[in-house]
Amino acid sequence: MNSPINIIQNHSLKQLNTLGLSSIASHYAEVGSEVELRAALAFARQRQLPVIPLGGGSNVVLGELLEALVVRINLLGRAILQRTENAVSVRAAAGENWHEFVLWTLANHAYGLENLSLIPGTVGAAPIQNIGAYGVELRDYFVALDAMHIESGEISRFDGPSCCFGYRDSVFKGVWQDQYIITAVTLSLDAQLKPKLDYGQLKAMLAHGTGNPQALDISQAVCEIRREKLPDPQKIGNAGSFFKNPVVSVGTLSRLKKEFPDIVAYPAGTMWKLAAGWLIDRAGLRGRQQGSVGTYQKQALVLVNHGGATGQDVLDFASMVQRTVDEKFGVQLECEPRFYPG
Ligand code: FAD
Ligand code: EPU
Repeated sequence: MNSPINIIQNHSLKQLNTLGLSSIASHYAEVGSEVELRAALAFARQRQLPVIPLGGGSNVVLGELLEALVVRINLLGRAILQRTENAVSVRAAAGENWHEFVLWTLANHAYGLENLSLIPGTVGAAPIQNIGAYGVELRDYFVALDAMHIESGEISRFDGPSCCFGYRDSVFKGVWQDQYIITAVTLSLDAQLKPKLDYGQLKAMLAHGTGNPQALDISQAVCEIRREKLPDPQKIGNAGSFFKNPVVSVGTLSRLKKEFPDIVAYPAGTMWKLAAGWLIDRAGLRGRQQGSVGTYQKQALVLVNHGGATGQDVLDFASMVQRTVDEKFGVQLECEPRFYPG
């Protein structure tokens, strides 16, 4: 086939996933335009290869050999679409680095994403699990996304309701999983800063300042908290929180509180969200290591690759953590990253 893109065979993804897992893609392409993306999808269709879109590789567990076309999304570009007294509408292409995009919005006096500073990965992956941190989620500012249908190459627009955002969830992890590649995201940000400082540690850190924090102060405080708590993937392989915080009923929480009065839980509508990190820690697994996989010493919710782990090693360790927490608390932990078996 006379393709306008370069398809590489047997390409190593070790540098392209933050867990640092050894993984080979039978076919690999980097796409910098919609034309290239469409051509890559046509190639996969012709060879009957499944397509795996890859951004920053910070929320995936990769098998050792992927019989697939892995498509690295390098679509770039960001723009202010409109500015009114209250809102700034911005659009960014899927391959833009998330943190750089956040800093760019702040430099352009468009506010709201400061609490989401330093989340690894790309703009295009942000809606997949509705990224969130420090009291803010992507959906709070989301307007629409554009996505290319993998089968047809057609581009469609999805608004907020059609994305069915939830906690670390969207329609792209449900009925539309593996059907679309997100090409661009449009957000409506605030024209004036409205600090969101409900997260205790963030409030405490900013209390030392003038009492009137600017957006960059908040962004920097978030970065500082994150650097203190989470391992830097450049130094130690990880995918952030490996499990979602389980959401349980009031009844389950009261049962647990009787036995574990210091359990950490936050209200989530009519339900309660348990701190999975606390459960794993309390089960005695913080800092635990088996072979080359372990939990991070400072944050038990983060699984780390001490070097040389395979995707299967990570999953085996994760199963052990799930089993132990279930046995001790009767609570099931759900994995956050997506697993692509080899
Ligand atoms: P990838 O890992 O490349 O992909 C993730 C999934 O999305 C895969 O299934 C992939 O196929 C799919 N995908 C990627 N791009 C596209 C696209 N353009 N179209 C369709 N599908 C696509 N997450 C949070 O929510 N909050 C946090 O605070 C947070 N902290 C983290 C801290 C660390 C140290 C790390 C390593 C991760 C953290 N994460 C956090 C998880 C991760 O950063 C986010 O999920 C991020 O959005 C993943 O982006 P990515 O580009 O790396 O996606
Ligand atoms: N905790 C422990 N021991 C541990 C880890 C945590 O006791 O080993 C306790 C903490 O003391 C705290 C509570 O658990 O009381 C919650 O911990 P933390 O504030 O670190 O947040 P988290 O619930 O572990 C979530 C997100 C993070 C996000 C932060 C900040 C999920 C699954 N994780 O972590 O997102 O950055 O809050 O908002 O919702 C990610 O999704 O990859 C991610 C890093």
